[in-house]
Amino acid sequence: MPLKPEDLSNIPETGIDPENPGKYQGLLEDLQGNILKGHGRDYSVHLFLQWDREQSDDAKQWIKTFSQTYVKSAKQQSDDALRYRKEGISGGIFANFFLTRKGYEALGFAPFKIPKNQPFTMGMKNQQIRGFLGDPEVEKWEIGFQKEIHALILIADDDLNNLLQTVNHICQELRQIAVILHREDGFILRNKAGQIIEHFGFVDGVSQPLFIKREIVKAQVNDCGFSQWDSRAPLDIVLVKDPNGKTEDSYGSYLVYRKLEQNVKGFREDQENLARTLNIKEDLAGALVVGRFPDGTPVTKSDIPTYAVTPTNNFNYDEDVSATKCPFHAHIRKTNPRGDTGRVESSPGYDESLGIERSHRITRRGVSYGEKDPNQAPERGSGLLFLCFQADIENQFNFIQARWANPNRFVKVGVGPDPLIGQPQGSQKWPEKWGEEDTKDHCFKLWVSMKGGEYFFAPSLSFLMKL
Ligand code: HEM
Repeated sequence: MPLKPEDLSNIPETGIDPENPGKYQGLLEDLQGNILKGHGRDYSVHLFLQWDREQSDDAKQWIKTFSQTYVKSAKQQSDDALRYRKEGISGGIFANFFLTRKGYEALGFAPFKIPKNQPFTMGMKNQQIRGFLGDPEVEKWEIGFQKEIHALILIADDDLNNLLQTVNHICQELRQIAVILHREDGFILRNKAGQIIEHFGFVDGVSQPLFIKREIVKAQVNDCGFSQWDSRAPLDIVLVKDPNGKTEDSYGSYLVYRKLEQNVKGFREDQENLARTLNIKEDLAGALVVGRFPDGTPVTKSDIPTYAVTPTNNFNYDEDVSATKCPFHAHIRKTNPRGDTGRVESSPGYDESLGIERSHRITRRGVSYGEKDPNQAPERGSGLLFLCFQADIENQFNFIQARWANPNRFVKVGVGPDPLIGQPQGSQKWPEKWGEEDTKDHCFKLWVSMKGGEYFFAPSLSFLMKL
């Protein structure tokens, strides 16, 4: 029996269990890994490809062999992880294969066979999309991203030498059937406590929609349940049917890819400036920008870091509705308002039910690039390779960036852009004293710049292997 739409919207309370998948077995066997749960490898290489229509048969053959050799299903990913936990045997190389709309066309697919999400159809270089997201002109993007991208392959491993050797081998093969337009080398950055951080020094990857039993149980134990924020999510926020899948339960997901350069020196100086303006400590100033302290403590809960081993995600803003502790503009409040958009002040038509608000959630799978020493403060050449999966780009990534992060108005008027990612930069209101109403205006400059990107689809394995 194939899965019904309600099997994706109502998943078991404890999530999907790949070790005991029941009716989700077929879905997990045909879905690429890294979508429902991150692949967890420390190093990854991203190769952006293009081929001519005349090469499409060779390209198809190559993709088929590559997928059979390296691309892992969600089920295999879980089996590998289990083996690692039981026997200490590493899962080795992990890979994904993604296509753009132009990639499908270059492989000779007719329009009705190509996934249909509108931004995916239009592409990230499209003027309307760039206008909506506030992105720079394509001529200002890095050269590789300016070209017509057909596919992206992601190859990852914990063993850097093995990864680089494998990538070299793959590149040699690839050159016979495609042009490698661009390459990015990503890695996981960690702080002294071993937690995953981004280049500005904040713990990252804490709050995610959770689909898989092990992750749900872990979060439940760490946070004593989901009383204030339920991070569990239905599969239909991340999966859609693959129009070319060869099984009854063939699913895929849309991937948004953005290279976001971080000017760490500038950010740190601005953080010091803000601390001076408000006469507060620098770490609190940073928390008012991000919504969490560098150690992950939510600033709505505390005005000092608590150094929890695993930062909490079981919180909302119900006790901070006037945003005197965590400003409305803070990055995590704008990108996941946890109920704020249901209590919008005098903006008819803007308020949303919690259910709709939660449907905008994205599954982030970004990694850092550039400088590997977190004590350096690079101005250029380092940042985040931002990747996120979703079922509907327009309702998820594009909505978050264009309707929440960028605008001045968010929940109420005059809030200002998200100081981390809001485009263009602007002035925000900052609490003069944590927990009190008085605010000061300050323009936190935008220290993140978009260097290029594209929209992709992650097709099912049965499609890739039978090309
Ligand atoms: C959360 C940093 C870009 C969406 C976070 C957190 C940090 C962070 C430190 C808090 C830790 C966590 O909950 O995982 C950054 C940096 C970025 C960036 C440095 C750029 C260089 C983006 C973009 C988006 C985004 C482009 C989407 C438009 C989110 C979301 C959360 C988050 C949805 C989780 C919020 C929550 O559930 O509380 N980010 N981020 N981020 N970020 Fe970003």
